[in-house]
Amino acid sequence: MWDKFYVTTPIYYVNATPHIGHSYTTIAADCLARQMRKAKGKKNVFFLTGTDEHGQKIQKAAEVTGIEPQDFTDKMVLIYKDLWKKLNISYDDFIRTTEDRHVEFVREVLEILRKKGDIYLAQYSGWYCTPCETFWTEMQLKDGNCPDCARPVEKITENNYFFKLSRYQEWLIGYIKEKPDFILPRNRRNEVLSFLELNKLTDLCISRPKERLSWGIPLPFSPEHVVYVWFDALINYISAAGSFDEQGEYHSEWWPADLQLIGKDILRQHAIYWPIMLRALNIEPPKTVFAHGWWMIGEDKMSKSRGNVISPLDMADNFGVDAYRYFLLRDVPFGMDGNFSEEAITKRFNGDLANDLGNLVYRTLTMVEKYFCGLIPDMGNLDEQGSRIQEKINSLSGEIASALEAVDFGRALEQIWILVNMANKYVEERKPWNLAKENKREELKGFIRILAEVVRKVSEEIYPFMPDTALSISAQIGKEKIEKGKPLFPRIET
Ligand code: ME8
Repeated sequence: MWDKFYVTTPIYYVNATPHIGHSYTTIAADCLARQMRKAKGKKNVFFLTGTDEHGQKIQKAAEVTGIEPQDFTDKMVLIYKDLWKKLNISYDDFIRTTEDRHVEFVREVLEILRKKGDIYLAQYSGWYCTPCETFWTEMQLKDGNCPDCARPVEKITENNYFFKLSRYQEWLIGYIKEKPDFILPRNRRNEVLSFLELNKLTDLCISRPKERLSWGIPLPFSPEHVVYVWFDALINYISAAGSFDEQGEYHSEWWPADLQLIGKDILRQHAIYWPIMLRALNIEPPKTVFAHGWWMIGEDKMSKSRGNVISPLDMADNFGVDAYRYFLLRDVPFGMDGNFSEEAITKRFNGDLANDLGNLVYRTLTMVEKYFCGLIPDMGNLDEQGSRIQEKINSLSGEIASALEAVDFGRALEQIWILVNMANKYVEERKPWNLAKENKREELKGFIRILAEVVRKVSEEIYPFMPDTALSISAQIGKEKIEKGKPLFPRIET
């Protein structure tokens, strides 16, 4: 099989500006895309992100600002694109759900499913939570409010179109059992599976009457309705990556996606609605949907609706883009919740970045300057400690590749830091100033050369996580002659 890699992020709602949570998923996807481009070649990687621009939330946000929804989204999307540029996000495509290519595709999907008999019209009555864009039954309400966000709901009765989710429930259960990597991490898979085994799926209401909500894609067979925003949004992953032929068969050089990264808040949509929609369209499900955890502020999820958000721009300005990227991918195991605080970033900055990595690069370059006039020596004699470092250099790429294939950023970074710390320890124990004093030239050569090799290797392997830092280290260590710059991570005084 062709060794490609197609990775996606959720498409974010443009009703408000992005916060740390949004940047988290996108930075994670960027790291994997960069790693895979190194491994598989640039042309074989497709990294998709984008924005979710329809629905009531967006319509309301536009109303508040007093401008038309399209103008509103045109303005908001720039904030996302600017942020991704600032954070060095190397996406290959950015899809907006208001683009013609997407709108046309969604209408084709509806026609195909309608013809197949998977979409039907019925009267609907339920409790609707506008901020969550979700209908609930009486039973599901918690103290009369939305069970997800605890805000008030509205009783709504209307004619709507439904998608036959229920028809595919048994198939989905079988599929999840057969493909252990379809939903990751494991606990999320088990959660979805037991939900499916204990509950009967109800069909999904996929339309909204225009008089209630006009900001959406009109149904091709009923101009009085627009498409439910989730049904519209999920389709982005295939509308950006391929097209239908006359027979309604989907063709794509990228699909199935290799990895769809999401937060655990949108697992139900991605692990239940999405594979069933694809199945109904006769399209393979993605290979893996990975739901990561939440960044919390104290006891609460960081979210627009809770109003406790921190701006990624501020963090990048205060700590630097790479330190910010590093922190997100290093501090909390991907999949678990974590607490966000500036103290925690400062700690990582002063420890891992200033003391360990920055120090190693700076002292290595300083010694090349001092003992070898800025020219990296040939390999001299290696002692046992030096040989162990050489072995770690040799195994590092493989260790990182396998950690990242398992979407384990923390493990990958830990491996890099094992090498960094081995090298720092080597400097402290080998005491190069003594080697110089005793004129042990071959030992000093071996010692400095292996440190230079460590710095080179680290710059190579750290690239997916901290692209600018990697380039800067690699420019400083050079090929033969070094170009020493300022310390990479000057300590933050607290
Ligand atoms: O749900 N911690 O968009 P959205 C970690 N448009 N990640 C977080 C987070 C937090 N506190 N808060 C948000 C939508 N995220 C839909 C998606 S996809 C077809 C449609 C991240 O703007 C995480 O990836 O609410 C989460 O799933 C996503 O932002 C939700 O973004």
